[in-house]
Amino acid sequence: MTKTMTVSEAMCKRRTIRGFRPEPVAEDLLKKILETAQLAPSNCNTQPWFLTVVSGQARDKLEQALMAELISGKTPTPVFTLGDANLEGIYKERQYACAADYYQTMGVERADKAGRNELMAKNWQFFGAPHVGFLTMPSTMGPVNAIDMGIYLQSLMLLLVEHGLDSCAQGALANFPDPIKEIAGIPEGHGIICGLSFGYADEEAKINEVKMDRADLKQSVKFVS
Ligand SMILES: Cc1cc2nc3c(=O)[nH]c(=O)nc-3n(C[C@H](O)[C@H](O)[C@H](O)COP(=O)(O)O)c2cc1C
Repeated sequence: MTKTMTVSEAMCKRRTIRGFRPEPVAEDLLKKILETAQLAPSNCNTQPWFLTVVSGQARDKLEQALMAELISGKTPTPVFTLGDANLEGIYKERQYACAADYYQTMGVERADKAGRNELMAKNWQFFGAPHVGFLTMPSTMGPVNAIDMGIYLQSLMLLLVEHGLDSCAQGALANFPDPIKEIAGIPEGHGIICGLSFGYADEEAKINEVKMDRADLKQSVKFVS
């Protein structure tokens, strides 16, 4: 019998994976993971999350439609403010460092706009994952409800790791909601918080060598006594 991972082990093992093998996740396993993710806590137990999981032919059709939107140069129409909007100071610096590490690992020069665009476009190809989920909440809700969405998202990502799966959360997938509404459907009145591509990691993929550091604890925590 394989030993169950501790939460700490899952936290240390999880990282963003952007290269996947094509085989799908067994439906029973996926349902078991999602049942457990339902236990995530939320403000007044409102459970605002809704996850639309897209696989198979619908996933391929959606990839084509989203890539067409991207290539057409259409202006993004996200419902919620994107996470990389309005960044300043240390947060802007961290965003730059994140992109620089990513491009460096992938051998893409900063001046190589086509190379950067090609890498960016992989978002709308779901990084080759066999499944993509769209995490939505009512568009009337705000930042405090988004806490619940984040807790659900991390719970789900850790549960995927516990079961030998990996994922990439994608704010980029909030940019073009129309094809997602048309092909997959999302609940009426909901907006997309982010996407989540998931499946089995391709251990050989260069893109999975991307590793991100974290700030020292003292930059994020203060003790007062
Ligand atoms: C809400 C959220 C949105 C994200 N959006 C994207 C995205 O659109 N594209 C992408 O490649 N990575 C995306 N990421 C992954 C982050 O870049 C990644 O979590 C961060 O660099 C830390 O790396 P790690 O997850 O490997 O520890 C997102 C992560 C989160 C939590």
